[in-house]
Amino acid sequence: MEFDLAAFLNRPLGIGGKTIAKRLVLAPMTYLGHAAFRELLEGFGGFGLLFSEMCSARTIPTENRRVSAFFKWRDAELPFLVCQIMGAEPERMAEAARRIADEGFFGVDVNFGCAAGSICRRSYGAALLKAPETAAAIVARIRRAVSIPVLVKFRTGWEDRPAAAVAMARRFEAAGADALTFHPRVAPDRRARPPRWEYIGRVKQAVSIPVFGNGDVFDADDCRRMILSTGCDGVALGRIAVARPWVFAEWSDGVDPGPGRFHGTLQRLLALLPHYFDEPAAMRRFRRFTLYFAANFRFGHTLHRRIQGAGSLAQMAAVVEGFFESPPELNPAPNMNFLQ
Ligand SMILES: Cc1cc2nc3c(=O)[nH]c(=O)nc-3n(C[C@H](O)[C@H](O)[C@H](O)COP(=O)(O)O)c2cc1C
Repeated sequence: MEFDLAAFLNRPLGIGGKTIAKRLVLAPMTYLGHAAFRELLEGFGGFGLLFSEMCSARTIPTENRRVSAFFKWRDAELPFLVCQIMGAEPERMAEAARRIADEGFFGVDVNFGCAAGSICRRSYGAALLKAPETAAAIVARIRRAVSIPVLVKFRTGWEDRPAAAVAMARRFEAAGADALTFHPRVAPDRRARPPRWEYIGRVKQAVSIPVFGNGDVFDADDCRRMILSTGCDGVALGRIAVARPWVFAEWSDGVDPGPGRFHGTLQRLLALLPHYFDEPAAMRRFRRFTLYFAANFRFGHTLHRRIQGAGSLAQMAAVVEGFFESPPELNPAPNMNFLQ
């Protein structure tokens, strides 16, 4: 019997004491998964959860959401919004998680995946996979501090050894994690080599909590293959969610957003950004977004270059209108792999 992707994606999934209605989720992405982008995504729908940008556990307890760069949200998204935190001290992480629970987020996600030098030098993110005891202690301390779902995002580790990832997954479960998002790549290689999806299957086999598979899912067929080949409970979408924010609705609900979706998405994001950010911050985020979104177009580099050169949001809007004066030629599928 043919696998019915939409039916699978619409099967509710229990996470901790809560349930999500759909199984595609937005992966956490710094400078991309911000509040304005999430509001844009909500307009399309089709997802079960959204993850925030990575937020520092050190600053969260006292942070003012109106002026914070990352710890920002709309109250209406709290029922399906997970706040991702990074840090290395269990007590501080627990304190941050308490604030996240008090604010009403769906859950808290702990970053054990980011391999950027600036993060790992402080022993945050993927660096903690070299210190499994500390990583597990962080999860256990957060678990004791909050009753909302505690999620963990991690990658294979620093060596291409699936056994280490499996052992880590078991430790996270034992420490009280309610779900895992697993990106099967080794830390230093970033996205240069393909992810080893078979490791997702091994992690899934090793634990009884839900596992979201992640890495290089760019079309519905990839999504189907990842689910069938690994048995994962859901899929976390990163870069393709930026290039095509309607994919959640398309794959889960069969929604066809129509030919105006490319132009409309750029216009909508430009309109939403100033609700959350001052002009320089909004421009920075629009530039970053365009880097990924431009991959949709045969001459996307033109759009990208012009947006980089624009000096204000108004100029960016003018660039967008100019680009769509005659319908741009689309790439059959956006080439995401040259983008980190
Ligand atoms: C620009 C960018 C920023 C990212 N920021 C984060 C982050 O803050 N936290 C995190 O756990 N992963 C982060 N990631 C990793 C993604 O969540 C995801 O694991 C990765 O992009 C692979 O998924 P994909 O192939 O669907 O893009 C980031 C990825 C990108 C491209």
